[in-house]
Amino acid sequence: MKRINIAIDGFSSSGKSTIAKALAKALGYIFIDTGAMYRAVTLYFLDRQIPLDDPQAVSDALRQMQIRFERDAQGRQRTILNGRDVEDEIRSMRVARAVSQVAAIPAVRRAMVHQQREMARSKGVVMDGRDIGTVVLPDAELKLFITARPEVRTQRRYRELLEKGLNITPEEVAENLAQRDYIDSHREDSPLRQAKDAILLDTSDLSREEQVQKALQLVKNRDTDKNHPHF
Ligand code: DC
Repeated sequence: MKRINIAIDGFSSSGKSTIAKALAKALGYIFIDTGAMYRAVTLYFLDRQIPLDDPQAVSDALRQMQIRFERDAQGRQRTILNGRDVEDEIRSMRVARAVSQVAAIPAVRRAMVHQQREMARSKGVVMDGRDIGTVVLPDAELKLFITARPEVRTQRRYRELLEKGLNITPEEVAENLAQRDYIDSHREDSPLRQAKDAILLDTSDLSREEQVQKALQLVKNRDTDKNHPHF
């Protein structure tokens, strides 16, 4: 089967990365978590106290940063920033609180989009984010837009953070998600939007397994449609 690129966009904690990871595994594709890249930039800026309103400081910092992905012994993907594994740190609330502001800076987006396009050049990529179908890979052969009701997303993220041992209330999680949804979909530069040719998938009432099965079905349908076009 010809290798394609798959773009997966949607709101925070909608099930994007569960679906993207499972699709990549089933198809033997590379999974690229673009949210992790914006989180890594945010961690770097926070640690070095880079003033977000200073374009020179921001562009100098961006030039110092090298982000890549690696697999650990258990096969889990880890985010590596300048040679250091930052996977756990980038999932902290400290980063979650600042990431949407950092991701709204055009110079940051330009740098990340450039790297993301390079990563997808040879096809066989499942990329998840907010602007993948609209800006990063407008020619992706399959685009999914994932959504779920806010209370479902809050519960999912809350459970995830609890499992990691973070001390946080569901209210704090709900507030962070609402804030990020707002900033992510209202920023001027490449806001979160469903691409015209993206397929909408609401995961509110689906188990993980069902979400993945649905997505795999959409990949299969796409192949069938392509091989037997309806004229
Ligand atoms: O998917 P996530 O929750 O890890 O993403 C973290 C933040 O990064 C999200 O609030 C918005 C930003 N982001 C973005 O602006 N564009 C992307 N392609 C991916 C993430």
